[in-house]
Amino acid sequence: MNIRPVRVDDLPGMQACNLQNLPENYTMKYYLYHAMTWPSLSYVAEDHKGRIVGYILAKMDEEGGEDAEPHGHVTSISILRSYRRLGLAKKLMVQSQEAMATIYRASYVSLHVRKSNRAALGLYRDTLGFTVQDIEKKYYADGEDAYAMRLSLKP
Ligand code: ACO
Repeated sequence: MNIRPVRVDDLPGMQACNLQNLPENYTMKYYLYHAMTWPSLSYVAEDHKGRIVGYILAKMDEEGGEDAEPHGHVTSISILRSYRRLGLAKKLMVQSQEAMATIYRASYVSLHVRKSNRAALGLYRDTLGFTVQDIEKKYYADGEDAYAMRLSLKP
């Protein structure tokens, strides 16, 4: 399995992977916006035939005005079912976090996750050290609450 920065021709494969794995889906324009604006923050995992088996889609957060601390945000991450528990998501997260810190001087990385998503919570909280910053009530379209999580990227 190989992990590398996203290319524009990966975007349909990324979108297909997202559609299989998550109910939160995005337009091709939104994938393109991430890849063109912050090309070093999104990565794909590919098998030996170059098929995309996982991805991380990430960006720098532009909200908060000029005084706000620069920070990264993980829009979406997923791994196809038969490639899970191989450490791929952890590697994708670490690569993106390193680029956020070194290239964009991000002081932290944020994300949202469903309260019921045990696998993702295990990855973020137990493996990577994220903490819950807030609970956002009915954040998701089906009414489920989200944990707003953060990890400091300061050395
Ligand atoms: N149950 C409990 N802990 C888990 C699980 C699980 N099913 N899966 C991963 N973890 C934790 C473990 O601590 C694991 O370490 P270990 O294997 O040494 O015990 C650690 O996370 C790292 O696991 P990886 O192998 O790197 O994770 P994987 O590649 O399997 O991907 C992911 C995890 C992305 C959550 C995957 O299960 C998936 O694609 N799920 C569906 C999509 C999804 O929920 N995406 C996240 C939505 S939130 C967002 O996108 C911001």
